[in-house]
Formats: sequence, structure tokens, C-alpha cells
Amino acid sequence: MKKIIDFTVRENRPLTDTLFFLTLYAPELPEVAAGQFVNIKVEGSPEIFLRRPISIFDADPAAGLLYLLIKIAGKGTARLAELKKGEKLNILLPLGNTFTLPGKEERILLVGGGVGIAPMHFLAKTLRQKGLHPELLIGVRSCSDVVLRENLEIVAPLHCTTEDGTFGEKGFPTAHSVWRKTFDRIYCCGPDPMMRAVADHAFRKGIACEVSLENTMACGIGACLCCVTETQEGHKCVCTEGPVFNTKALKWQN
Ligand SMILES: Cc1cc2nc3c(=O)[nH]c(=O)nc-3n(C[C@H](O)[C@H](O)[C@H](O)COP(=O)(O)OP(=O)(O)OC[C@H]3O[C@@H](n4cnc5c(N)ncnc54)[C@H](O)[C@@H]3O)c2cc1C
Ligand code: FES
Repeated sequence: MKKIIDFTVRENRPLTDTLFFLTLYAPELPEVAAGQFVNIKVEGSPEIFLRRPISIFDADPAAGLLYLLIKIAGKGTARLAELKKGEKLNILLPLGNTFTLPGKEERILLVGGGVGIAPMHFLAKTLRQKGLHPELLIGVRSCSDVVLRENLEIVAPLHCTTEDGTFGEKGFPTAHSVWRKTFDRIYCCGPDPMMRAVADHAFRKGIACEVSLENTMACGIGACLCCVTETQEGHKCVCTEGPVFNTKALKWQN
């Protein structure tokens, strides 16, 4: 069930000039699942009245801890970057659907680009806990964008591409040598062109593929229709019927 909870900031750790990692605490944190997101009220500015959607990087409901990886994109996220330990943050959660969990024997590749690594981390951890052994491929611009490596390496063997070749293999994720292996299922979250390229790759190889869309949102609860995406079954709200979609359901392949 959705809840609105006041979290306390336990830690706000800057990772790069634009990326930061929030650890939030609330004893009444509900169960959340990989793929779901939260909607954060940004206090301190009358111009920012809409909540900001952010994927769940990790959660420990028993300890009341929620972890978010955030990139400064505009005024709202810039304000969140200034949060200090002990400040309160009002959050609506959990929102959206979840990834479809694979069968026990399936070989799985998770692909994350930019802050799209957040839901991939939570999914990899979930799959590991279920006895599966996913591999994780991340695509970023440069080595300085490879963040939270220690968290990622714990949950899955980590592969990386950088556009400038300063870490891992040079190029885009779809060109990485890990694709020479056989996979039964792919999950992806990242910039739209990256997800389309991964979906196309999966489609050509006949591999099942789910993506987590990051359409611009307003209400986050299916009321404003500003987040709709076109699917084979008509328009769907990404906030309530997504953010996770099987790419076969999307109108991406022509
Ligand atoms: C389901 C979902 C999960 C997300 N998860 C994360 C996450 O884990 N970490 C993270 O850093 N960001 C995530 N985002 C993106 C994040 O919500 C936006 O970057 C944020 O709302 C921008 O708010 P702002 O006030 O800082 O920027 P604004 O001032 O509102 O906008 C600044 C710029 O950001 C662009 N922008 C606004 N909304 C989005 C969006 N949804 N996606 C991409 N660009 C946007 C605008 O077009 C504009 O160019 C997610 C978005 C969705 C829909
Ligand atoms: S954000 Fe309002 S309907 Fe999805």
C-alpha cells in the first residue's frame, strides 16, 4: 500500500560534481520491490511544487533504510543535493510496478546507464537473494562516472563501458564483449537511446527484455496523464502501469 512518510536524512554523500547518494531512515518503511520508485516532495522553494520521481537503489525495511542515487538535473534535484544529516524528507512510496522475476535456470544480463544503475542494483540484489547469478553491465561517459562500484560488485560480476575508454571497454554498452555470452533475459534502465539500442539488440537475438522508463512525471499516481507512453495496447501511464515494460509491448520495433 502507498504511504506518505517523513524520512530523516542519515547521510548525503557526494559522489561526483553531479551525483550524490542519499541514505534515508524511517521506521515505518514498507516493503518495496525492484523496479519501484518513490516520489519526493522538495521543500524550500515555492517554484517546486511537484514531487520528483527517483528509483530505489536499495532498501532495508527491517532497518528502516532507503538508499537513492540522484543526479542533479535541475532545481529540485539541486535542492536535494543540499540536504543535511537530520533534515526531513517527505516521500510517497512505493510507486509503480516491478520487474518480472526470471526462472531459476535463466542467464540474465542487467544493463544500466547513468542513474539507471539504481534499479539495476536493487534488481541484481533481489535476484542474488533468490539464488540467481545475474551479470551487470554499466555504461557511462568516463571513469569518474563509475560510482558505487563496491555496492555493484557485491551483487553481480561487473562489466563496464566508458565512452572515452578510461575504464572498462571503450564504447557503448551494446558493443561490450559480454554480449558474446548467451543470455535468456535482459533488464535495462538508462537514457532512452541506450534502452532502445539494448532492446533492439535483444529483439534481434530473440531475448526477452524489460526496460524501466523514466518519462517526465507530475502526479506519479495516474491522475494527470503526463507520463503516458505508446504501447501495443494503446497509451499507458508509466507511473502506474510502468515504469517497467516488456519491450515487446512498446512500439519500439518497426
Ligand atoms: C520512474 C523514474 C525514476 C527515476 N529515477 C531516478 C534516479 O534514480 N535518479 C535520478 O537522479 N533521477 C531519476 N529520475 C529522473 C528525475 O526524476 C529527474 O531528473 C528529476 O525529476 C528532475 O527534477 P529537477 O527539479 O531537478 O529538474 P527540472 O528542473 O524539473 O528539469 C531539469 C531538466 O531535467 C529534465 N527532466 C525532468 N524530469 C526528467 C525525467 N523524468 N527524466 C529525465 N530528465 C528529466 C528536464 O527535461 C529538464 O531538462 C527518474 C525519473 C523517473 C520517471
Ligand atoms: S505522472 Fe501523472 S499520470 Fe503518471
